[in-house]
Amino acid sequence: MQKIKRIGVFTSGGDAPGMNACIRAVVRTAIYNKLEVSGIIQGYQGMIDNHFVDMDSRSVCNIIQLGGTILKTARCSEFRTVEGRKKAYDNLKAAGIDALVGIGGDGTFTGIEIFSREYDIPVVGIPGTIDNDLYGSDFTLGFDTACNTVIEAIDKIRDTAASHDRLFFVEVMGRDSGCIALNTGIAGGAEAILMPEKATAIDDLIESLEGAVAGKKSSTIVIIAEGEQNGGAYNIAQRVKAKFNYYDTKVTILGHLQRGGSPSSFDRVLASRLGFSAVNLLLSGESRKVVGLKGNEIHHVPIEESINNKAFKLAPDMIELSHILAI
Ligand code: F6P
Repeated sequence: MQKIKRIGVFTSGGDAPGMNACIRAVVRTAIYNKLEVSGIIQGYQGMIDNHFVDMDSRSVCNIIQLGGTILKTARCSEFRTVEGRKKAYDNLKAAGIDALVGIGGDGTFTGIEIFSREYDIPVVGIPGTIDNDLYGSDFTLGFDTACNTVIEAIDKIRDTAASHDRLFFVEVMGRDSGCIALNTGIAGGAEAILMPEKATAIDDLIESLEGAVAGKKSSTIVIIAEGEQNGGAYNIAQRVKAKFNYYDTKVTILGHLQRGGSPSSFDRVLASRLGFSAVNLLLSGESRKVVGLKGNEIHHVPIEESINNKAFKLAPDMIELSHILAI
């Protein structure tokens, strides 16, 4: 393998709090090791459009606390084509970029894996998504911050729900993962949590709501993961209301506000550790790896393994305790 001279760093897919802290760590670790760094604007789209910027230590000043991504992000269908990837390679080569660090989700990882095989360019992926749905890391960048954002919202909803004796259905993000729902449901004291990984029949949900009434609860909050099978919070609310109308019922979809905001301390540290490790991994001659956290240790797995395995992060004890603590 040739000695690396210039690393290209990019963010791709949905933005997540902590991406900027991670870019900062990649840039500064690379510069510390006498490498040059290009920021690739808008992920794979920027490779195709030849949109690169030189980065130095000062280009990443004052960004550790910022949500979003200073490098912008995009979902790029052209990169899925052979022609698109050829254009990207020609542009990277002309810019002298001879290794890549990609921060994103499984789409990002699939892209760099294919690209690295086609053009023999060293690549490392860093898990960045609020969904916490990637194999190879206990936590993805942005998950902790997103959960804190959701908790803040649930606490506020609880105030008004308790004042009016209301039932709230709160829908959270996560795509096919119930991680945000389960964690925030427990942390927010939800009376029920609906997740894609564990089907809940509407009649069972109604039974637990009746339990809440019997237990003299003045408010009830049900957290619904967007990927849950019953068809979303509005639909569920309607079906519940048709059979159980003890409470006045309201629906809140938290939506994209879960993606923004200043990263938590946990996400900033995780981002810094993963960015640092990604560059060190490239320097040690490794490629096609995803860096992640296992226990409190940084480790890495082949990108292929990360793509081909499902992250199963809903600990059974958490599901059980979410029921018990809701009585
Ligand atoms: O993957 C992050 C995520 O926020 C998911 O939770 C959600 O399903 C999706 O992205 C929304 O994507 P977009 O921002 O393209 O609407």
